[in-house]
Amino acid sequence: MSQTKIDVLFTEAEIAARIDGLAKEIANAGFENLLVVAILKGSFVFAADLVRAMHRVGVSPEIEFMHLRSYGAGTTSSGEITVLRDIESDVSRRDVLLIDDILESGRTLAFARDRLIDRGAHRVSVVALLDKPGKRHVEIEADFVGFDCPDRFVIGFGIDMAHAYRQLPYIGAVADNQHDNSAKGDE
Ligand code: IMP
Ligand code: MG
Repeated sequence: MSQTKIDVLFTEAEIAARIDGLAKEIANAGFENLLVVAILKGSFVFAADLVRAMHRVGVSPEIEFMHLRSYGAGTTSSGEITVLRDIESDVSRRDVLLIDDILESGRTLAFARDRLIDRGAHRVSVVALLDKPGKRHVEIEADFVGFDCPDRFVIGFGIDMAHAYRQLPYIGAVADNQHDNSAKGDE
């Protein structure tokens, strides 16, 4: 495989500073008895940093994980979401904050939101590290956004291309002719 060229979009320091800002916004949002639900796998690095930043500003959430797999447009199973692992907590009457890496078509987060609302959650909010605003297929907006993201294929900070690059401490973009479309069926 030829060397993948990566353009750095958001550095480690920029991401850390923005996560501290997000934690303050979340602390000021008036959540009670908050349950955060990190959507695996892509959000694991972001969620780990965000909950510790929330701790520093006095927020003490419970933490759960939901593992979803989504297939983007262009694959045979367009728009389909599969639950690979569900949360264990009872969400009825609770404030819930969904954490994801990227809000793109919106299908993944809309699916998770609707599932928790159906189970009686009182308030379901969304924090996305990256927002690709021009790409929405369903109606959902994040309550908290780390960065607006250009319409490019990005990797790093938990986000993968065909299961690789999640370990990068920064977020980079891959040249259009270099990314693997199989990464579209992603978590
Ligand atoms: P959607 O909002 O349901 O379209 O899904 C967003 C999910 O697709 C994200 O959580 C990622 O897992 C994946 N995704 C979207 N854009 C990218 C990208 O640029 N690189 C890697 N994964 C992506
Ligand atoms: Mg994801």
